Amino acid sequence: MPADLSPSDIAKRATARRAADLVETGMKVGLGTGSTAAFLVSRLGERLRDEGLRFTAVPTSTRTAEQARGEGIEVVTLNEAGRLDLTIDGADEFDADLTLIKGGGGAHLQEKIVAAASDRMVVIADAGKEVATLGAFPLPVEVIPFGWRTTQALVARTLENMDVDGGETVLRMRDGAAFVTDEGNHILDLHLGRIGDARALSAALNHVPGVVENGLFIDICDSVVIGHEDGSVSLR
Ligand code: 5RP
Repeated sequence: MPADLSPSDIAKRATARRAADLVETGMKVGLGTGSTAAFLVSRLGERLRDEGLRFTAVPTSTRTAEQARGEGIEVVTLNEAGRLDLTIDGADEFDADLTLIKGGGGAHLQEKIVAAASDRMVVIADAGKEVATLGAFPLPVEVIPFGWRTTQALVARTLENMDVDGGETVLRMRDGAAFVTDEGNHILDLHLGRIGDARALSAALNHVPGVVENGLFIDICDSVVIGHEDGSVSLR
């Protein structure tokens, strides 16, 4: 194990490397976003160079697209690819039903579309992301910039009728300004503590004018490769 990797990075690298083995020549593959996905893209680049693996990738962010191109991976748009064989992506939380919270990196909109276009979605996550109840990680909600304060107030009002513990809604900031997604939108992070009914919450949030997409992934993930700090993996 390289000495310069933290225990958390060892876990991320382990899950990413195992999931990278699922990619076969000729496949069309969705590539997720985030630090775990970065290990995946780097491993796929290695396989491309060492084993002659050839596949087509649809990245879920400009960040991932840049990394994939740098690794020599063939990148196409989702419209060009159409249906995908497999998407491999990270997550911020997952529960026993394989419901996810995603969007910590602000890419959940493209990630959800790409996952929905895929025959199979495999999540790569370190063991610390497995939870009994979703909601400790703030739920990202992508909103259009126009009138975002109104959207925020409508989201807050919606939360009053939901089975959650908290209701704080925070505009995500970066470098002193509102964070801007690849689609030119902003993110509200919802500090909920506990999400009692993810399905009802997701539907209610996406019904609010100005909301583009929330970070709950329900009935989308097929399996999770869990990375552990000793470099082993287990499967859900
Ligand atoms: C980005 C995501 C990421 O997959 C999620 O935030 C996990 O990231 P990391 O692997 O860095 O912990 O949903 O929108």
